[in-house]
Amino acid sequence: MEARWWPRGPLRPPRCSACLLLLLGTAVFFQSYAVEVDVKDATNATCLYAQWLMRFLIKYETNSGDYKNATLSLPSNVTHDGSTCGNDTQAALLAVQFEEGHSWSVNFTKTNETYQADFITFTYNTNDSAVFRDAKRKGPITIVVKDTMHPVELNNVFVCHNTDSIEAENVTQFFWNITLQAFVQNGTIGKKESRCDADKPTSAPTILPTVANITTASTTTLSPAPTTAPKPVENPDTGNYSLKSGNKTCLLATVGLQLNVSQDKPLLININPKTTSVDGTCGNTTATLRLNDGNSRFIGFTFFVKNASANVRRFYLKEVNVTLLNHMNGSVILSADNNNFSKWDASLGSSYMCRKEQTLEINEDLQIHTFNLRIQPFLVKENKFSTAEDCSPEVDNFIVPIAVGAALGGLVVLVLMAYFFGHKKHRNAGYEQF
Ligand SMILES: *[C@@H]1O[C@H](CO)[C@@H](O)[C@H](O)[C@H]1NC(C)=O
Ligand SMILES: *[C@@H]1O[C@H](CO)[C@@H](O)[C@H](O)[C@H]1NC(C)=O
Ligand SMILES: *[C@@H]1O[C@H](CO)[C@@H](O)[C@H](O)[C@H]1NC(C)=O
Ligand SMILES: *[C@@H]1O[C@H](CO)[C@@H](O)[C@H](O)[C@H]1NC(C)=O
Ligand SMILES: *[C@@H]1O[C@H](CO)[C@@H](O)[C@H](O)[C@H]1NC(C)=O
Ligand SMILES: *[C@@H]1O[C@H](CO)[C@@H](O)[C@H](O)[C@H]1NC(C)=O
Ligand SMILES: *[C@@H]1O[C@H](CO)[C@@H](O)[C@H](O)[C@H]1NC(C)=O
Ligand SMILES: *[C@@H]1O[C@H](CO)[C@@H](O)[C@H](O)[C@H]1NC(C)=O
Ligand SMILES: *[C@@H]1O[C@H](CO)[C@@H](O)[C@H](O)[C@H]1NC(C)=O
Ligand SMILES: *[C@@H]1O[C@H](CO)[C@@H](O)[C@H](O)[C@H]1NC(C)=O
Repeated sequence: MEARWWPRGPLRPPRCSACLLLLLGTAVFFQSYAVEVDVKDATNATCLYAQWLMRFLIKYETNSGDYKNATLSLPSNVTHDGSTCGNDTQAALLAVQFEEGHSWSVNFTKTNETYQADFITFTYNTNDSAVFRDAKRKGPITIVVKDTMHPVELNNVFVCHNTDSIEAENVTQFFWNITLQAFVQNGTIGKKESRCDADKPTSAPTILPTVANITTASTTTLSPAPTTAPKPVENPDTGNYSLKSGNKTCLLATVGLQLNVSQDKPLLININPKTTSVDGTCGNTTATLRLNDGNSRFIGFTFFVKNASANVRRFYLKEVNVTLLNHMNGSVILSADNNNFSKWDASLGSSYMCRKEQTLEINEDLQIHTFNLRIQPFLVKENKFSTAEDCSPEVDNFIVPIAVGAALGGLVVLVLMAYFFGHKKHRNAGYEQF
C-alpha cells in the first residue's frame, strides 16, 4: 500500500534549490527536538497521536532589500492548543505553537476505511528577531499547503523515517522520524504500520549519501545505517520529467541521473525517478528544471537561448545547481553550482538527444552522469518532443556514408584515370597516324 504523509507532488510554486543555496554561509542550525502530541477525548482515551521532527527554511526580505534564509527549528517545549480528535463529520486537527508566535497545524479527515492529511497551515512571525534578523516586514505570515497524502488504513500507525520536504511560498518544510495516528480507536495505537514510500526498500535508492557521516534510517531496524554504502554498479533508471504552463507542457526531459560525489571518497548516487518531484519555470529565453529526489537531493538545470547567427537561434544548458542535505537534520552536505556550461546545444524548436553516457563536471567534488538523455526546454508542441538533434549519430550511420562516399570517390578517380589514359593513348595513336 502506498502511504505517505507529506506530498512531494508538483502542486506548489516552489523555489527550493535556490533558497537552500542562499542558506550557505548565513545558516545557523539549531538542534531540532522531537515533538510529541497525545490528544485525549472526553473519556481520557488517546484519539490522536503524533511524534515527529520538523524544521523550516524561510526566505525573507531584509531592510536592505536582499533576501536571507532563516532556519526555524522546534524547541524542546511546544504547546498543542486547539488539537482535536475529530470524528466522521469533523476533521481532526494536530496543532502546535512554539516560541515567538509561530504555529503549525495539519488536519486529517477520515472515510470508513482510511484517514489522510488535508491541509498544512504554517504561521511564522517575522517579529521574532532572533530568527528573522533585520526583517523588513514584521508580523505573522501564514501559508497553507494542500496535502496530497495517500490514505492510511484506519487503525494503522503511519511511520516515516526518511525526510520529506514541502516547498511553498518561500518556505521549505522538512519532516522526518514521523509516527502518527489519527482517529485512534479505543485509545490504543495500532499495531500495524503503514510506511511511507521513502522508507520502503523498493522505492528508496540503493544507497543514501554517507558523506559527512550521515546516518540513514533503515527500513527494518531503527538503527543508523553503516557508514559505508555499496557503490551502485547499475546505471540509473531513466525518468520522464515535464513542466506545464497552464495546461500546456512547456518543458520535456527524459534522463537517467547519477551523481558522483567525491568529498571524502567517491560515492555514486543514482537518482530514483519514482521518488523524484519536478518543478521549475518555462520562459521564452530561459527555462529551469528543478528536481527533488525525495531524499534531500536537489538538482537544478537552467537553459538559455542564444543567437547563433542572424537567423539561427539555439538553446543550451548554462547552469547546473546541486544541493545535498543531511536528511536527518537538514544541514547542507554539499552545494555546487556551475553556471558556465555550454552543453546540450541544439536549435530552438528541436530537442537535444544523447543516449550515451555524458558527464557534467559541476566542480571538483561533484559530477553528474547522464544517460538516455533527451531534453526540450523550449517550444514544446502538443506535449511531444520535436525532432532530435543527436549528440553523436549512431556510429554505423556515420561510417556507412563515409565508406560509400570513399568508395564512390575511388570509383570516380579510376574512371577518370581510365578515361585519361585511354584518351591519351588514343590521341597518341591518332597523332601517329598523321
Ligand atoms: C543556482 O544557484 C545560484 C546561486 O548560487 C542561484 O542564483 C540560482 O538561482 C540557482 N539556480 C537554480 C536552478 O536553483
Ligand atoms: C547534522 O548531522 C551531521 C551528522 O549526523 C552532523 O555532522 C552535523 O553537525 C549536524 N548538523 C546540525 C546542524 O545538527
Ligand atoms: C486522565 O488521565 C490522567 C492521567 O492519565 C489523569 O491525571 C486525569 O485526571 C484524567 N482525567 C480524567 C478526566 O479522567
Ligand atoms: C463530531 O465532533 C464535533 C465537535 O468535536 C461534535 O460537535 C459533533 O457532534 C461530533 N459528531 C459526531 C457524529 O460525533
Ligand atoms: C517571497 O519571495 C519573493 C521574492 O522571491 C517576494 O517577492 C515575496 O514577497 C516573498 N513573500 C513573502 C511572504 O515573504
Ligand atoms: C474497540 O472496542 C470495541 C468494543 O470494546 C471492539 O469491538 C472493537 O473491535 C475495538 N476496536 C479496535 C480497533 O480495537
Ligand atoms: C530519528 O530516527 C532515527 C531512527 O529511529 C534515530 O536514529 C535518530 O536518532 C532520530 N533522530 C532524532 C533527531 O531523534
Ligand atoms: C517515458 O516516456 C517514454 C516515451 O514516451 C516511454 O516509452 C517510457 O515508458 C516512459 N517511462 C516511464 C518510466 O514512464
Ligand atoms: C567520480 O569523480 C572523481 C573525481 O572527479 C573521478 O576521479 C572518478 O573517476 C569519478 N567516478 C566515476 C565513476 O565517474
Ligand atoms: C537575438 O536576436 C533577437 C532578434 O533576432 C534579439 O531580439 C535578441 O536581443 C538577440 N539576443 C541576443 C542575446 O543577442
